[in-house]
Amino acid sequence: MSGARIRIWTDLPKATINPNIYGHFAEHLGRCIYEGIWAGRRSDIPDEDGIRLDVLAALNQVRAPIVRWPGGCFADMYHWRDGIGPRKQRPPTVNIWWRQGEPNEFGTDEFMQFCRGVGCEPYICVNVGTGSAQEAVEWLEYCNHGGDSALSRARVSHAGAKPHGVKYWGIGNENWGCGGRFTAADYAKEFVRFASFMKAADPTVQLIGCGCSPMDCQNPAFVAWNHEFCQAMPHADLIDQLSIHRYFSRGHGVNFSDSEYHALFADLISLERDLQQADQLLGYFYPDKFVGLAVDEWGLWHPSAVVENGLEQENTLRDAVFAGAALNLFNRYAHRVTMSNIAQTINVLQSLAFTDGPRMFLTPTYHVYDMMRYHMGARVLTQEIECPEFEGHPVGLRRTFSAPALSVSASISGSKVLVTVANQTINLDIEARLELRGAKPGGIVGRVLNSATARDLNTFDAPKTIFPKRLKLEPSGGEIVHTFPAHSFTSLNISLA
Ligand code: AHR
Repeated sequence: MSGARIRIWTDLPKATINPNIYGHFAEHLGRCIYEGIWAGRRSDIPDEDGIRLDVLAALNQVRAPIVRWPGGCFADMYHWRDGIGPRKQRPPTVNIWWRQGEPNEFGTDEFMQFCRGVGCEPYICVNVGTGSAQEAVEWLEYCNHGGDSALSRARVSHAGAKPHGVKYWGIGNENWGCGGRFTAADYAKEFVRFASFMKAADPTVQLIGCGCSPMDCQNPAFVAWNHEFCQAMPHADLIDQLSIHRYFSRGHGVNFSDSEYHALFADLISLERDLQQADQLLGYFYPDKFVGLAVDEWGLWHPSAVVENGLEQENTLRDAVFAGAALNLFNRYAHRVTMSNIAQTINVLQSLAFTDGPRMFLTPTYHVYDMMRYHMGARVLTQEIECPEFEGHPVGLRRTFSAPALSVSASISGSKVLVTVANQTINLDIEARLELRGAKPGGIVGRVLNSATARDLNTFDAPKTIFPKRLKLEPSGGEIVHTFPAHSFTSLNISLA
């Protein structure tokens, strides 16, 4: 057992944590949309107008704030008109990236219906790769135009009079790769063209430009992408957020070694580098306007997730603790990070749930979103941590670094403080003295996500192997003394006395 100190300044609140940091991503890929969200005509899956009820309830519970759709790589070959109107008349098409048929049963109006059921904002990524600015502007008109036009009439007849009111629009996806292999300068020209017409059509929309993670891409051609894009795109009025994607992989999804476990958590150092670089760049190139950073795809991508199995993979306690540590990092960068969308909502990569016909179980990662939900809209607090460290060589960096064993973030909303702690070591229980500066802790509702090993996971037969357990905690002498077990994630909801 080792010792640590966590100091939280309740009287030094900083930026508001954008609720969209707790966002999600659902692509037409494998079983994410079809079966995972859309039950369609399958009579054995309880649904409301085709949308699975169990998935709606699960996303409701975590108050999912936003879902990005329809891709991913799929977005840059998706033609939205294929997915509207009577389903029988929609053309079946081919999903070339994920090598599957696309029945087009789930389109714009079904996505809106799903978002309404979840209670979240829709975030649409438009097709730059094989589409046109005209097609994108018409999609926006179909969704948002409240006046009379052929397209708004079509929406009224398919989905009712009320405009869908889609606020968030991404201009292409990974346009340095599957989105058309543009150079940053060429993509900047496309961005300006698409964004000029979309902002003119609806000035209330938020437009998200495609960036690139300098730490993720080993290809030196992409390291400068964000810089070159911003330089070639001086029109701050056109851009509201820049996106980056980060995927992580260290060893087998379940049978990873202890050193692979630690290497994975050390990779968060390189994620932090991405955030720092983007923060500086956006501040430099757009000094007179706040442009947010949207990490609109991220998560673990294990070797078992391949195109042939629709990118399905295991989801252990390690993945959940990692998600908690990454979300803690996004909270601490709330002054710049405006959105994050874990990939992907159901059945794909680091999903929140798995389905099999009418059955569904929640992954350990899901519970982290549940435990962190009160951070949404709260203000992040100043903190100081003294704790043991572990060593690791982060991806994209040239040497070994020391990383703190505990990843922490804290926020305040009214008289409630939420502290979330990931113990990033696989084998070290850490006793910490948690001190709130500027206030006294009153009642505490604590929960911990832990298990005998970090390799444990939930299954259809044992869906609650990893499930948050309540903690009994009392402050003593103004402090909270608590042992954070190895490979665990803890939430402490503290009422101020
Ligand atoms: O999430 C799977 C894929 O990963 C997305 O389609 C793409 O944007 C990324 O490369």
